[in-house]
Amino acid sequence: MNFSNTVLTWYNNNKEDFPWRMTKDPYKIWVSEIMLQQTQVQTVIPYYKKWIIKFPTIFDVANASDDILFKYWEGLGYYNRVNNFRIACNQIIKDHNGKIPKTVDQLITLKGIGEYTSSAISSIAFNQVNYVIDGNVKRVMARVLRLKNFSKESLNKMKDFLSANIHKGSPGNFNQGIMDLGRDVCKPKNPLCSICPVASFCMAYIKNQIEKYPAAKKQTKRLPHYTIGVGIIWNKDKILITKRKKNALLGGLWEFPGGKILKNESIKKCIKREVFEELSIDVDVLKFITKVKHSYSHFKITLHAHHCLYNTGKIICKASDNYKWISPNQFDQFAFPKANHHIFPHILNQEVI
Ligand code: ADE
Repeated sequence: MNFSNTVLTWYNNNKEDFPWRMTKDPYKIWVSEIMLQQTQVQTVIPYYKKWIIKFPTIFDVANASDDILFKYWEGLGYYNRVNNFRIACNQIIKDHNGKIPKTVDQLITLKGIGEYTSSAISSIAFNQVNYVIDGNVKRVMARVLRLKNFSKESLNKMKDFLSANIHKGSPGNFNQGIMDLGRDVCKPKNPLCSICPVASFCMAYIKNQIEKYPAAKKQTKRLPHYTIGVGIIWNKDKILITKRKKNALLGGLWEFPGGKILKNESIKKCIKREVFEELSIDVDVLKFITKVKHSYSHFKITLHAHHCLYNTGKIICKASDNYKWISPNQFDQFAFPKANHHIFPHILNQEVI
């Protein structure tokens, strides 16, 4: 059997029935592909299911408020995916009569859709013969073709191979087959070559050099660490939350105001200064609440949360897009960055000060 039939047969016999594999609806496949960028399958499944119930079509996305969309994405990370997705839904409504286009050339004009996603949607939903290259496919190809790195030259070799070997009758299943193989069999460490259906096509395996391909990456740099003071600012029984600027990291999410500590600054001074700089109000910084450590993709933080009392000043949003005074039982109505979630229980279990 040739390569394409081997991959397809393996996929048909071994595929997992992820919820987005029960449909040919291009919208649902698109949602899954956007969620799966940078995020593991098992994490995506519950988000995908809830999203599809709440927003079954592009029109539901286009008509939803930002806050609802973010709430349903809360915890998935890379939040610019949500903004782009909503913009792309509007593009489809305006430029394509509300129908998701079929070709890579058209799909790639939509916000947030690049080479990978356009090929994935066109092949999986519309059976168009386009191969995909994601991180898993790259690793499988590096081993099959004995390529050490992912240079332009290597990628061109992968493209030539995939273009010649993609299954013309079931390109979507072939693509998903290679991605699944990469995730479940041709794993970065300890690949399961003994059960690999394409071992007989794999040059690295044949030469008994599987551990050499692709070459190990250089150690990545340690992530920077930031110490951040945040204020749980009370005015009677309400707490102040602010919305992060749309284009910032974690843009569009709500948070407790605060910021990075300066050299030789105390946490209390930091909170008072940051709140004034960002909102133009004066607060009294009171009791320490809790410390939260959290790792994001590019840095680590330790949040030091303190109760604060609103003192004087009219709020001017200098570093945020909006603000609200809410009661603690409304936390679940807004999307917050993960680190903020660890502070909630400490506030909910506390008497109002
Ligand atoms: N990773 C991203 N999209 C995928 C899909 N459709 N199947 C398997 N792995 C994936």
